[in-house]
Amino acid sequence: MPECHPSPFAGSALSAVHRDLLAWFDANRRDLPWRRHRSLYGTWISEMMLQQTTVATVVPYWERFLERFPDVTALAVAPEDEVLALWSGLGYYRRARQLHAAARQVVGQAEAFLPTDLEGWRRLPGIGPYAAGAIASLGLGLREPAVDANVRRVLGRWLVGPEPSTAPTLRVIEDRARALVPRDRPGDWNEALMELGAVVCHPREPSCAACPVAAHCGAARAGSAWSPPPATARPEAVAVRTVMVAILCGRRLWLEPAGGPALHCHSAEPALRADFTHLHPGLLTLPMSAWYPVPAGAPGGSPARLRLSWRPWPDHTEAEPPQLVGRFRHAITRYRLAVEVAVIRIEAPAAASEVPPPFGRPAGSWVEVVDAGRLHVSQLARKALRFIDDARG
Ligand code: ADE
Ligand code: SF4
Repeated sequence: MPECHPSPFAGSALSAVHRDLLAWFDANRRDLPWRRHRSLYGTWISEMMLQQTTVATVVPYWERFLERFPDVTALAVAPEDEVLALWSGLGYYRRARQLHAAARQVVGQAEAFLPTDLEGWRRLPGIGPYAAGAIASLGLGLREPAVDANVRRVLGRWLVGPEPSTAPTLRVIEDRARALVPRDRPGDWNEALMELGAVVCHPREPSCAACPVAAHCGAARAGSAWSPPPATARPEAVAVRTVMVAILCGRRLWLEPAGGPALHCHSAEPALRADFTHLHPGLLTLPMSAWYPVPAGAPGGSPARLRLSWRPWPDHTEAEPPQLVGRFRHAITRYRLAVEVAVIRIEAPAAASEVPPPFGRPAGSWVEVVDAGRLHVSQLARKALRFIDDARG
């Protein structure tokens, strides 16, 4: 556990927060059908449904479902379309199918009863760490945390330091969540945290003045409505560089449908991406090289490393070497592109009545430079065209 974030809950502070939150929950818990007569099966169904939508929506679904499938055997032997019909309206049918598959898995075992430990639940389809923790604590009374988005927000707020900027990381929150679960009443504790997140500690405007645990809460002391970063980490940005080429033949410019092959280019490193078949479908663009890694310490890349072949036709000797006319940056999904814009000026081959595609490009056409900006050009190519006089449209 990182030492830089000492737990504010030790000794008497720990028992005080347990006492205050559980007393509030005992007095204020909402009357929900799966809370009336706790059963392991009913808890499982409610947790699967509650991952889909709100408590208010789930209540009638849960009641109908338990009436029709009162136990795991009834669920396992039911036809799938009947299970899906009773799920219809909750969304995300994959979860209903997983639930049904899990019931069949349980009933198909030698001992056909629901798992009695966390690991057993984790082995069933559709059960992630949150659901397993919730079922184990609420349905089995085991001392396991159950950290969903609500609980993550509540605990994160408790752990905010004297300055709101000293916010805990998700890792610290998960660790603290585990350490906070009391030996006594672990299920009620987890449910009380969920309840507090749902009815008091709202995402945008927490009702700190009415909160039973404000005395234990770092965010309340710091006067901050801190919210945790989203749990799904974004893929890391990848810095790449590429060359886009404006090929000019007199007053005409080569434009082609996006998705064409990467322009041949000499590079010291292997390409990170050279397949553009799914990039900007339906739009026009300029020929582009593959995307190469930007070496560490060289933001923006260096043009000398990406050498273009500059003979547009195999037997053509008239062209001048490409001329670097600009650079810009552009983000596409996780890629951060440093783009160099090069111009190649070519003469039409004397014998040809129609100018052939340059560099063996499979599709595209010569358009008047002055028209380029008015066509359906990708945003990426549009940025490149800013460096070509007359092509701005
Ligand atoms: N969300 C997930 N599980 C819940 C529960 N048992 N009660 C209220 N809201 C919940
Ligand atoms: Fe949430 Fe405010 Fe209560 Fe802290 S005091 S747990 S921020 S409602």
